[in-house]
Amino acid sequence: MRRLLLVLVVVWLGLGLWQCEHVDSQQRVDFYIDLTDPQYQDLYLTGGYVYVNNIIVFKGLDQNYYALSQYCTNDVCVVQYQVSFNEVVCTCDQSHFDIYGNPTFGPATYPLYRYATSLHGSMLRIYTP
Ligand code: FES
Repeated sequence: MRRLLLVLVVVWLGLGLWQCEHVDSQQRVDFYIDLTDPQYQDLYLTGGYVYVNNIIVFKGLDQNYYALSQYCTNDVCVVQYQVSFNEVVCTCDQSHFDIYGNPTFGPATYPLYRYATSLHGSMLRIYTP
């Protein structure tokens, strides 16, 4: 009986760990930034970017705002938006990602997590889709 109980506990724990592997580890976010705030003034410029809550927010060539995880999926270095490539580039090993977070070049093979954005006047909402 004690052995059966031990087996049940091990199976239960194993199932719990298995389920954890499938949990999305990205933080759920939903916040606004005020584009009139001087700390976000770079976002008025095409190619401008800022970091907020572990997210890189940038204004792309198409004048739309994009928000991606600021950490490279290769080895968690910070990424930057480079308007000359219209891509996000890792500062360590130069992996490139398109504006949607998909890897296009370099050692990183997993995409950057992409957040949704919507503009309401001068308020930019950034949220988990
Ligand atoms: S940490 Fe980004 S490519 Fe290595």
